[in-house]
Amino acid sequence: MSDYKAIEWSEGKLKLLDQTRLPREYIVLDLESCQDAIDSIKEMRVRGAPAIGVVAAYAVAMAARDTQATDMGSFLEGLEIQARRIADARPTAVNLAWAVERMMRLGRRGNSVDDIKKSLLQEALLIQTEDEETNRRMGMHGMDLMPDGGTVLTHCNTGGLATAGFGTALGVIRAGWEEGKRYGVIATETRPFLQGARLTAWELMQLGIPATLVVDSSAGLLMRQGEVDCVIVGADRIAANGDVANKIGTYSLAVLAKEHGIPFYVAAPTSTVDMSIASGDEIPIEERNPTEVTTLAGVRTAPEGIGVRNPAFDVTPHNYVSAIVTEKGIARDPYTEALLLMLKDRRDNGC
Ligand code: MRU
Repeated sequence: MSDYKAIEWSEGKLKLLDQTRLPREYIVLDLESCQDAIDSIKEMRVRGAPAIGVVAAYAVAMAARDTQATDMGSFLEGLEIQARRIADARPTAVNLAWAVERMMRLGRRGNSVDDIKKSLLQEALLIQTEDEETNRRMGMHGMDLMPDGGTVLTHCNTGGLATAGFGTALGVIRAGWEEGKRYGVIATETRPFLQGARLTAWELMQLGIPATLVVDSSAGLLMRQGEVDCVIVGADRIAANGDVANKIGTYSLAVLAKEHGIPFYVAAPTSTVDMSIASGDEIPIEERNPTEVTTLAGVRTAPEGIGVRNPAFDVTPHNYVSAIVTEKGIARDPYTEALLLMLKDRRDNGC
């Protein structure tokens, strides 16, 4: 099943593959309102920076559709409130705020309530289509970096499930494979939410790409033993200087890769680049529920009363990043200039 769809708009509803149930169950949810969409993002039924951006865009369209207001003033006022609630659903991935702002810029320019409702739905569909095309282009640019005859290590889940389709880092891995290159893939399980074990392992098996699952903490051993030729990960936000926020554990992988002389690549669409922040120090890091750490599949594994920290992301300074693959090409240090050039011709970059 290489054509699974994580997100699909159909008959006025958003069909969402529930990522909390994979790989044991393949359940498609019907999201019928903006609130359903916000809940699904918060509960990580959909996750991955580009995918939550797409769902956020549909959330704005559903909020507009379902409003009772008929005059422009109160319609837009109500929509702005809903837009802020959607953008606040998760703090780290900038694609969420980017998609909401792109939708609202269009909404604010509209001439009538009915026109805005129609154009917002069209825009959400466009954001979804564009994301999949973007990922395919990213795959084309990045596939040359994949080690024919070697092994690539990846972290978290960055495939079709984390995007509108095809994937970012996993998309690059897939593009190289489909081009005929042959390599092994090591997927880290990605504690504590297990996006690697549950989702990346599942996607690689659907795609027929041979993969090996490892615990996060085995990366150092494998690199030292020469079993990893490159690392490729996605991103939730990239600062103007090229610092990269991604799933917790990414920074450790980058430091280990540098220590062992292994290239460390990031694949992300330009909608993940946030030129409004100079460095990764300004990226808000989401702290999630402690129960993700103290339980495993609903079973308590840590003693009651223990203190817990659960930061869901970390920031990798740009000097650990060998290259950033986007749909526009490959950026290398100095990142500020390279990223600015890539963003220059984006109609919707807001900068
Ligand atoms: O908490 P998640 O599962 O939403 O985190 C996802 C990641 O960190 C991904 O690596 C990132 O969003 C890139 S996905 C294409």
